[in-house]
Amino acid sequence: MPPAIDIETLNNIRDSALRDLADAINATSSQSLEAWHTSYLGRKGILTNVLRGLSELPIEERKKIGTISNKIKTFLEEKYHTAIQSQATSSVTLDDSPFFDVTLPGREVIIGRLHPTTQIVREISQIFSTMGFESVEGPEVELDTFNFEMLNIPQDHPARDMWDTMWIDYTDTDGNYPMLLRTHTSPMQARIMKDRKPPIRVLVPGKCYRYEATDATHEWHFYQIEGLAVGKDISFSHLKGTLYEFVRRMFGNDRQIRFRCDYFPFVEPGVEIAMDCFSCNGDGCRICKGSGWIEILGAGMVHPNVLMGVGYDPTEYTGFAFGMGVERIAMLRHGIDDVRLFYNNDIRFLEQF
Ligand code: PHE
Repeated sequence: MPPAIDIETLNNIRDSALRDLADAINATSSQSLEAWHTSYLGRKGILTNVLRGLSELPIEERKKIGTISNKIKTFLEEKYHTAIQSQATSSVTLDDSPFFDVTLPGREVIIGRLHPTTQIVREISQIFSTMGFESVEGPEVELDTFNFEMLNIPQDHPARDMWDTMWIDYTDTDGNYPMLLRTHTSPMQARIMKDRKPPIRVLVPGKCYRYEATDATHEWHFYQIEGLAVGKDISFSHLKGTLYEFVRRMFGNDRQIRFRCDYFPFVEPGVEIAMDCFSCNGDGCRICKGSGWIEILGAGMVHPNVLMGVGYDPTEYTGFAFGMGVERIAMLRHGIDDVRLFYNNDIRFLEQF
């Protein structure tokens, strides 16, 4: 049943049609104009519906109302066509507008980027993944057990001095401080071996902390990457081959590597590995401090005590482990001379990578 028609109804329809048309024009999409046309003037539109009800009216009324309705209809159709046309030519009017200068250069869009440390971690992980190393992560708040004890560094062992430790303010029932911020990524060696059976080949990137004064080459927090391979016949030559490949992939095919004895309680033998300086090819320069060699990581064969501690038989399984400082690798790669730059959050530094 169409609604009762009188002049007031028609005027109301006209007013609301004009308001909605203004909205549709502001929406600046041709769909919204079409939708407006359908809802007022379409076959089932509001005004069309009203016109259908005309036949119900007495003849005198029908004439009067019919004329007014038709006027409103024509009026709205005209408004609609004007709107459609001005929309079609709106690009021209934009160009002419004093407020919109299309020749102005656009505003620079500032996009984020990966931190240089993250970039190097990803690059190193990628290199080792092609050699079969799976990347895993571990806790930064660690137990003394994993950070020291299971790595062959018992309580009161002087080697603890190698890692100035930040302890967590929490004591166990014996009054010991069993928790700390890990001083290296090596505790993950113990965690992984305890939970898995060989063969194992993992890479552990992660953040470490040391109670240390900062200077150009020391930070109190930094990243390390640990590597661990354990299996039936893993030998020192596997360690050599793996790290040689890594250095060549990271710093170029011409690099040489040098192994020298070093001491870490959880490996035997332990080594410090250096590569010949990529800047002077070993002649001696500022980067290698005149020595021709750059130390890049510590490594060695997993100590039998560590293997036994995780329940492995050292006559059956052997393994190698290595650990490197990520910022140090990034500094060499990019020629950065102060490690403190990494975490100062100076955008002028960070946006260079
Ligand atoms: N964790 C040692 C450090 O932080 C590095 C290392 C790792 C040495 C693995 C040997 C084997 O100094």
